[in-house]
Amino acid sequence: MDLMNKIISLCKRRGFVFPGSEIYGGLANTWDFGPLGVELVNNIKQLWWKRFVKDREDIVGLSSAILMNPKVWQASGHLKGFVDPLVECKKCHIRYRADHLKENYDNKCPNCGSADFTAERQFNLMFKTFIGPIESESSVVYLRPETAQGMFVNFQNVQSTMRLKLPFGIAQIGKAFRNEITPGNFIFRVLEFEQMEIEYFIEENDWQECFKKWQKEMEGWLLSLDIKKDNFVVREHAKEELSHYSKKTIDFEYKYPFGQKELYGLAYRTDYDLKAHRLSFNGSVPHVIEPTFGVERTVLAILCDAYAEEGERVVLKLKPILAPYKVAIFPLLANKPELVNMARKVFDSLKNNFTVAWDERGNIGKRYYSQDEIGTPYCVTIDFESQERNDVTVRDRDSMSQERVNINELTSFLNDKIAK
Ligand code: GAP
Repeated sequence: MDLMNKIISLCKRRGFVFPGSEIYGGLANTWDFGPLGVELVNNIKQLWWKRFVKDREDIVGLSSAILMNPKVWQASGHLKGFVDPLVECKKCHIRYRADHLKENYDNKCPNCGSADFTAERQFNLMFKTFIGPIESESSVVYLRPETAQGMFVNFQNVQSTMRLKLPFGIAQIGKAFRNEITPGNFIFRVLEFEQMEIEYFIEENDWQECFKKWQKEMEGWLLSLDIKKDNFVVREHAKEELSHYSKKTIDFEYKYPFGQKELYGLAYRTDYDLKAHRLSFNGSVPHVIEPTFGVERTVLAILCDAYAEEGERVVLKLKPILAPYKVAIFPLLANKPELVNMARKVFDSLKNNFTVAWDERGNIGKRYYSQDEIGTPYCVTIDFESQERNDVTVRDRDSMSQERVNINELTSFLNDKIAK
């Protein structure tokens, strides 16, 4: 099995990611985060929010609505410019994005091999729906394709309520929707995803310096997740690739098992958006640097980076702060009430500080391997000696070494390890 299939299978088997609407045969390119996946996602979002909002004085948060007045998308240029080139195979009638066909399949249909396609036509990626009972042109609204516009249209509200001066940023985490023509590759390209975006407002003259700073910030974020430096690269967009709003864009590309592709983007959006919405500050229109981070692609990069096979075991070498469970508690034997009761007490004493797993099934070796596979950095076993010595065995996921730790010191012992 190739690496991608191994990761997809682990995600399904262990509750990270399930196919969307699976019991009804699924819905292509929609996925659900399971009990462990949602913990990983929440950890990523919390770290991002702390790093870029809570720990900084120049950035404030926002959570704007998904549905916006359609005039927003008229003004932002998305109604006209947020399009992909669509072609259809004349033989099997499957539709593709023309640029993807060229890039990945040498302009041949990956389904039937034909090279005969319809002429390119521009396809708008925004999902349309209607407000109210009548489906007419006047009741059309769109599901936002980026969170960014919610931050632009609230520019003056945020600036004035928070009394902000340039440079300052607005950050948002939220859902975005795109009617992608050729989605695929697990959670890499999906119809519904989450973005973590910042619109950073500056004086025009400062854009180059600010762009460089944000490139460093984004690299720092990736390294803080323990994503290996060798596994991502920066690529600048050629002129013809630039989005309709951008003067310069770089992508952070990750070396996924299916190829090197976009993970994040950093764009200089000039004063395009504020001008489009006729918004200004002190008589002039600020310029914008926009670092944007996709949550699903972050999850995928983290999983690809962390997946390892070592002899008999599969291990997700997640940074402890990202791991769905920080610690698992095992009573050595499930049929010894004194061990189970003591293990329960340890579990209860840790659960306020950590996400804790409980496992009393099978032999200890199997329980370790089971936790390795989901990235739990520490396993705590309560054995017969524990009662006499008031201690436990703590086993480290990566080194597989074990040490005995006094129960009274367990919380601070784990805190020190996990904070690193
Ligand atoms: N506001 C700018 C913007 O939306 P983008 O490069 O189109 O820029 C930003 O999207 C990020 O959102 C991407 O770098 C990627 O991480 C994520 N993303 C975009 N389309 C996606 C999709 N169909 N599925 C999953 N993630 C996606």
